Amino acid sequence: MHTVKAIYPGTFDPLTNGHLDLIARGAKIVDELVVAILRNSEKGAPLFTVPEREEMIREATQGFGNVSVITFNGLLVDCARQQGAKAVLRGIRAISDYEYEFQMAMMNRKLDPELETLFMMPAEKYTYVSSRLIKGVFQLGGDVSALVPPLVMERLKAKVPNRSDS
Ligand code: PNS
Repeated sequence: MHTVKAIYPGTFDPLTNGHLDLIARGAKIVDELVVAILRNSEKGAPLFTVPEREEMIREATQGFGNVSVITFNGLLVDCARQQGAKAVLRGIRAISDYEYEFQMAMMNRKLDPELETLFMMPAEKYTYVSSRLIKGVFQLGGDVSALVPPLVMERLKAKVPNRSDS
């Protein structure tokens, strides 16, 4: 039987409802979806460790029968090949995402012409949500509870206890 496996890579620091929305959409389209957390991100010091992020994604996606979670280092195309994934899933929220996503998709195609990139759009209500904004707003005392899964909210509270003092 012909099955399609896709890889959904990212930093996920932390998982947001936008990510979860995309996972749900992707899981309906492909047979198997592998969420892949980049271990050696160049984005600077993360708030959550890789094992913490992995645990949060596992918990939040346990209801999906065809979603698994892994971590990776190095090139995404190598990870995709090892996994037997035919496609990379990425979310596009706004035009501003396009250039970065286009460059990554083209570079990945150069590195592996067999690997396709699939773009999907999250629900409109999450189009402005990013992990960076979630962390920033929460650290300043803002309410982000509608924008992340409850289990992520709990972890945020545990990590950043004195937010009212910020
Ligand atoms: O959530 P992010 O930070 O936008 O995800 C970026 C990610 C992890 C998809 C990207 O940085 C990545 O694939 N890194 C692995 C290194 C790689 O393959 N680089 C070449 C592709 S341009």
